[in-house]
Amino acid sequence: MLTAKEIRDSFKNFFESKGHHIVPSAPMVIKDDPTLMFTNAGMNQFKDIILGNHPAKYQRVADSQKCLRVSGKHNDLEEVGHDTYHHTMFEMLGNWSFGDYFKKEAISWAWEYLVEVLKLNPEHLYATVFEGSPEEGLGRDDEAASYWEQFLPKDHIINGNKHDNFWEMGDTGPCGPCSEIHIDLRPAEERAKISGRDLVNHDHPQVIEIWNLVFMQYNRKADGSLEPLPAKVIDTGMGFERLCMALQGKTSNYDTDVFQPMLKAIAAMSGTEYGKDKQQDIAMRVIADHIRTIAFSITDGQLPSNAKAGYVIRRILRRAVRYGYTFLGQKQAFMYKLLPVLIDNMGEAYPELIAQKALIEKVIKEEEESFLRTLETGIRLLDKTMEDTKANGKTEISGKDAFILYDTFGFPLDLTELILRENGMTVNIEEF
Ligand code: ALA
Repeated sequence: MLTAKEIRDSFKNFFESKGHHIVPSAPMVIKDDPTLMFTNAGMNQFKDIILGNHPAKYQRVADSQKCLRVSGKHNDLEEVGHDTYHHTMFEMLGNWSFGDYFKKEAISWAWEYLVEVLKLNPEHLYATVFEGSPEEGLGRDDEAASYWEQFLPKDHIINGNKHDNFWEMGDTGPCGPCSEIHIDLRPAEERAKISGRDLVNHDHPQVIEIWNLVFMQYNRKADGSLEPLPAKVIDTGMGFERLCMALQGKTSNYDTDVFQPMLKAIAAMSGTEYGKDKQQDIAMRVIADHIRTIAFSITDGQLPSNAKAGYVIRRILRRAVRYGYTFLGQKQAFMYKLLPVLIDNMGEAYPELIAQKALIEKVIKEEEESFLRTLETGIRLLDKTMEDTKANGKTEISGKDAFILYDTFGFPLDLTELILRENGMTVNIEEF
């Protein structure tokens, strides 16, 4: 079985053998683009090349890019931990052509890599193609479909709408029709009952997209119109953690060696085991996911703070602390202690983590301690409010009390609601 590291390396080796220059991941934090706070796709660092503002040093490049999808157009935060295949931070394996090869090579190399190099079973693969959009004046992507037909039976090629098959970086910027490769990881009995075809793009945890091939041809302008790009561009992105799941025969990203060492460490620290209790499992997944985001953000120059990108990071850290506090009995700072495990797992691929270990640990510990103080005060006050409410024979606390907790004590509303739910109570949200 290939390890995560071997999989990452094999991707780079494959595209190097196809004439691509391997480049490092750009930082996950973006400081010079007002349309984005964090890198949300591998193509971000090439935006100016794609738009024709900068010449390309190499016409073919490939990399593994640290991405974060927690704000703006691409935001997966609320799913994270509750499902088994979304992440805040994830690695995107990508290959690019800037005015060089286009759809034919992009599709046939993707196929060659997945089926011939990695030996994924082609019967479990599906490709989607853009069905067209009259309102944009765009027809179906028959060209992409014709290339897929060389590899896949027709019933494994599925039309997709603008939402799924026209990829855009943000409200403005490079965009184009795309073809996604989906994989069906369900056991044979289930596959016999319902075809994978019917589950593609239906949020099934085991029938998932693994690779998106974007055929960039337009720049979306602020007025919503599409302007042709100076040259055609291939922009692909494969979910590394999902690929590891498929190759390691797992049904959850968290069961791969990308996350297992971290989950084991969290479980050991909390005196429990992963896989025993549903609520604790969610908490452990949240923490295993979020520690990566927080550590890499700090490394890449974004400290938690009260504004903008800093606040996004602070909220993610607090989300993890809260899950640890409520479901794993972590009443003291604990996240910072997970850093050695993270470094052990990812330090070789991303040496910046090793270089900044001391800073990351210090920042996380301080943030945790300050938030834990908030949590303790808030929980004490909320307990008192709940008691008083019950004493009056009611089960609904006033929205004003929840607001004071939030506004004066920094106690998050969703936590108030969670604790109330656990106690069979509610809040009058109209008054909040
Ligand atoms: N830019 C494309 C994506 O993020 C590949 O899905």
